[in-house]
Amino acid sequence: MKKVKIGIVGLGRLGIKHAENIAFKVPNAELTAVCSTVEEEVHNAQKSWGIKYGYTNYKDMLENKELDAIFIASPSGLHCEQIEQALDAGYHVFSEKPLGVTVEECKRAEKAVERNADKIFMLGFMRRFDPSYRYAKEKIDEGAIGKPIMFRGYSVDPESCIEGSIRFAAISGGQFIDMAIHDIDLARWFLNSEAKSIFAVGGCYAYPQFAEHHDGDTVAALMQFENDTMAFLYAGKLAQHGYNVETEIVGTKGTIRIAAVPQKNLVEVIDTNGVRKECSQNFLERFEESFVIELQEFVNCILENRKPEITVYDGTKSTVIAYAATEAFRENKLVRL
Ligand code: NAI
Repeated sequence: MKKVKIGIVGLGRLGIKHAENIAFKVPNAELTAVCSTVEEEVHNAQKSWGIKYGYTNYKDMLENKELDAIFIASPSGLHCEQIEQALDAGYHVFSEKPLGVTVEECKRAEKAVERNADKIFMLGFMRRFDPSYRYAKEKIDEGAIGKPIMFRGYSVDPESCIEGSIRFAAISGGQFIDMAIHDIDLARWFLNSEAKSIFAVGGCYAYPQFAEHHDGDTVAALMQFENDTMAFLYAGKLAQHGYNVETEIVGTKGTIRIAAVPQKNLVEVIDTNGVRKECSQNFLERFEESFVIELQEFVNCILENRKPEITVYDGTKSTVIAYAATEAFRENKLVRL
């Protein structure tokens, strides 16, 4: 069996999980190299899993011609530059979301993808690979709810992670680019259209620290799409019960909800507090399966020389909308795209 040899950059919160998936979860992928500026992370991954090559400098990894593909799980502000460097060095590339933290750098990434058209590029909007979202999309495309007219997406991190969120706030790009970007992508996917106007509100209801970065701990936005459909986004950091991702698509003939009660599994705990369903505690738990399926799709696209459904343009378009939402929130105005 031909194996796709992958080098990963970024071994942090999410990168280490992707590295493990590449090493053990997809049979025709091989984790051949790991890279992080933190030497200990490189050393630990190499030692635990017997990884052949380790780097603390990304450019050195790009010299390794044994590799077929580069998997980018570094901080968001590095994605576009690293995408460009890896494509121009002759590798297939997967990048975590968001594509970039400015629209200008997204456009540069687009150019790099266009001039390396023989290479596979895929962006990590993993919710599109979640079995429930895929099932919902198939039903909607079959006409199960008539014409979709409204998308509603909530993405709220558990308050138990608030210290990390505050530290991350300076480089995250804000709630819309960091948290709501998945819902923005899903809204475009389900409503099959592009946003034409957006209004946003929110605030620092519990953590004034976010105001230093012109951000809120909780934000919301209402959008109108070119086909006159609507989308409502709600993103924040104050969920008490766990990682709250819930989605609803309302159509002319019905409604589809995905994880309307964002439960961990099918178990109900019945005790002195009543009847409870527990909740996933973080994105790794909720989307564990989706991360593996998206990786398998990236590897299959390389092996079958097929372009992925999620393109660099999806990355730019979602970033443009996230910025419009951020502008609407900061300046309290309706933004037309
Ligand atoms: P993190 O801060 O935990 O890890 C970043 C990693 O990149 C660390 O290993 C760090 O040493 C490494 N790094 C930093 N600068 C580097 C450089 N110049 N060269 C090589 N390595 C470098 O970040 P986290 O939370 O793992 O996020 C990484 C990316 O994944 C972000 O873009 C984030 O938006 C995205 N993400 C996506 C999620 C999803 O739902 N798809 C969920 C969480 C994060």
